[in-house]
Amino acid sequence: MIKVLVTGGAGYVGSVLIPELLHKGYYVKVLDNLMYNSMSLLPYFVDDRFEFIKGDVRDEKAVQQALKDADYIIHLAAIVGAPACQRDARLAEEVNYNGTVNLHKLRSRSQGMIYASTGSNYGAVENGVCTEETPLNPLSVYGVTKTNAEKLLLDSGNVVAYRFATAFGLSPRLRLDLLINDFAFQAVKNGSIIIYEKHFKRTFIHVRDMARSFLFALENYAQLRGEVYNVGSETMNFTKEEIALKIKDKVNYFLYFADFGADPDQRNYEVSYEKIRAKGFETTIAIEKGLDELIKAYRTISLIRPFSNVD
Ligand SMILES: NC(=O)c1ccc[n+]([C@@H]2O[C@H](COP(=O)([O-])OP(=O)(O)OC[C@H]3O[C@@H](n4cnc5c(N)ncnc54)[C@H](O)[C@@H]3O)[C@@H](O)[C@H]2O)c1
Repeated sequence: MIKVLVTGGAGYVGSVLIPELLHKGYYVKVLDNLMYNSMSLLPYFVDDRFEFIKGDVRDEKAVQQALKDADYIIHLAAIVGAPACQRDARLAEEVNYNGTVNLHKLRSRSQGMIYASTGSNYGAVENGVCTEETPLNPLSVYGVTKTNAEKLLLDSGNVVAYRFATAFGLSPRLRLDLLINDFAFQAVKNGSIIIYEKHFKRTFIHVRDMARSFLFALENYAQLRGEVYNVGSETMNFTKEEIALKIKDKVNYFLYFADFGADPDQRNYEVSYEKIRAKGFETTIAIEKGLDELIKAYRTISLIRPFSNVD
């Protein structure tokens, strides 16, 4: 049986990925320090193929224990997003970079790694379309720490690095700070949205498509290995205004465009996903479907959005 270690597996992405891995027959180990007290993985504790280590990627002992017998590592653990990293830059550096150093240093040569990198690594891009060759110019602590960790792993040759678009969609550990999740939340719960930098172009991926991309990497590791890939879809490149108007098709709310506020990562570009598509991976979930799911949940469940900036 193939054993997969997922660091940060109790998070927004991991909580959608873990059941998919179990469903496909993998043995799954999670290393997570549960910093958000998430109970999202509780249903899987009954499964003999599921193991949970409550520990920190900064702790060599915990990492050693987690790595034992793993065939692959999916590395998700991080302080995620510019606002969260800004709040505690030192923690972000320690977790996002030093945590990755630990995993890389302590793994054996045969243990392949799939790294959740980010489009935030591109930072401000001068006009045009972003490919994997576009120079990295990270602006935030988040972008810098993720870029440095990605470089370390790519230099080793034994990694598949995925630069993901911004995720959206439902997860048992729901992140309401993600742009689409936040806009839909505000429209449903507050009846209004204020948007800055409305013409800024962003690129999105449904969280279930992210999970599928990890399964794809496990199944095709030898063909993908040693390279970095943008992961998303050109059909999911939208301006913030376009997102707001798509929500307006489904929810009646007041929309106001402001001329204050700025994205710390200055993400304003279109992204090409040709490289991963040529390997055989395409996303499947359109924005309309993801929005319908979010709106249905927001209308049904009472959720409180903790105060934090949108990512
Ligand atoms: N969600 C997105 O839009 C997106 C986009 C691009 C890349 N990514 C990357 O995907 C990964 C997962 O993101 P997410 O949205 O699920 O974030 P998340 O914050 O929901 O999950 C991160 C998980 O890591 C755990 N963690 C944090 N510090 C840890 C530590 N020191 N030791 C062990 N575990 C620790 C947390 O408890 C949490 O469960 C991250 O690496 C992120 O950079 C996410």
